[in-house]
Amino acid sequence: MSDTTQPDLLELERQYCSWGDTVHYVDPPKCFARSEGSYLYDAEGTPYLDLQMWYSASSFGYGNRRLNAALTRQLETLPQLACQYLHRDKIELAAAIARLNESRFGVKGRVHFNVGGAQAVEDSLKIVRNATGKSLVFAFMGGYHGRTLAASAITSSYRYRRRFGHFSDRAHFVPFPYCFRCPYDKHVEDCDLYCVKQFERSFETEYNSFWDAKARESEFSAFYVESIQGTGGYVIPPPGYFPALRKILDERHVLMVDDEIQMGFYRAGKLWGIENFGVTPDIIVFGKALTNGLNPLSGVWARENLIAPDVFPPGSTHSTFSSNTLGTAVALEVIRLTAEHDYEHATQQKGAYFLTQIRDLQRRYPKVIGHTDGMGLALRIEICREDGFQPDRELTDAMFAEGLKGDLVANGRRMGLVLDVGGYYKNVLTLAPSFEMSESDIDLAVELLEQLIRRCAPGRV
Ligand SMILES: Cc1ncc(COP(=O)(O)O)c(C=O)c1O
Repeated sequence: MSDTTQPDLLELERQYCSWGDTVHYVDPPKCFARSEGSYLYDAEGTPYLDLQMWYSASSFGYGNRRLNAALTRQLETLPQLACQYLHRDKIELAAAIARLNESRFGVKGRVHFNVGGAQAVEDSLKIVRNATGKSLVFAFMGGYHGRTLAASAITSSYRYRRRFGHFSDRAHFVPFPYCFRCPYDKHVEDCDLYCVKQFERSFETEYNSFWDAKARESEFSAFYVESIQGTGGYVIPPPGYFPALRKILDERHVLMVDDEIQMGFYRAGKLWGIENFGVTPDIIVFGKALTNGLNPLSGVWARENLIAPDVFPPGSTHSTFSSNTLGTAVALEVIRLTAEHDYEHATQQKGAYFLTQIRDLQRRYPKVIGHTDGMGLALRIEICREDGFQPDRELTDAMFAEGLKGDLVANGRRMGLVLDVGGYYKNVLTLAPSFEMSESDIDLAVELLEQLIRRCAPGRV
């Protein structure tokens, strides 16, 4: 079986793999054989510069030696252990994350582990429901929290729910401050945060349906936020937005749950993306880069009053692999790595360099790029029609597919470019490059992006 050729493999896949995942978003599906640093390699050894790093799960570089070594050490020490027993790495990891949050927010809390992002989101929903006795939550239009049943119910896209009936309480979706395409047709320069004011007005009278003024109680228990929308297209809110929202939530006794699964662990220039906006959440959900994409691990941090043992007692939630020894060992090494190196500085400085170059591309190709933005190493390029505003999904898809062909040429070498497409209109290149990328890699990335533009939109350059 091991000498199966590439066409044979694709035929096997066609017949025997479920197509229910996202592999067939591109035709033909793409197969890779090796990964290292910022690159993926196909079976012929062609390098593909990766600007999405497993949707930000492998932020510290593919095959990161130090993190791989932590995994190998654990493989040789305590490779398996039922999660009902304790082991050192789990305890130290929970303590490290809780202390990091204590130092940042001045709040004592605890950590609960699971394996995937959506599962941790589900655990957070349990914590919220258990603590408040209420099951209704707010979430953002454009928000993404995963595809298990409950996570889909608070994820904005109906597309992810359409086939599956109604299974959990659907969130009430609130417009996100996507200022380039303001949901209220305002301009950020002079809107005075109109969108927050609209949200606040929903609590003004009981007839707006959210608030019982006599009981001083909201029907909603929590607001699920992403500090920067990930799948929604790396949309960065204006600076005053979250403080204003937090104030309203405090007044209405609504918890703030911050989903940092994609932006956490320095993607947006800080440990948590929300730190860029100066507010303290009640619950933080994390996953992805916690283990650099090695043995999966996710988790929830919650304020003590929401998760203390007398409130959230033993057995409240559990999964066989939840605090697995391999994942916790790597995660602890990630925490040590980030304590020893200044990732705030590195991601902010490299991100600023990258953003300057992308803005230059936007200036040179105004009939292709309508908007660019970035925070840390979370960067966005919004692909638009000639007017610089109407979303151009076809061109975005074409650039994505062209990058995967592996026949771009740079420095005299054939190579490919791995992109990710997000956004409300699926017209945004969401860039999540490796933190280890050098300035010359960034220059190369911009050169390859420019080649894609010139190939896919020759009439608009
Ligand atoms: C913000 C956010 N929340 C939740 C999830 C779901 O995580 P997972 O795919 O690990 O279930 C994702 C995944 O992309 C995400 O970006």
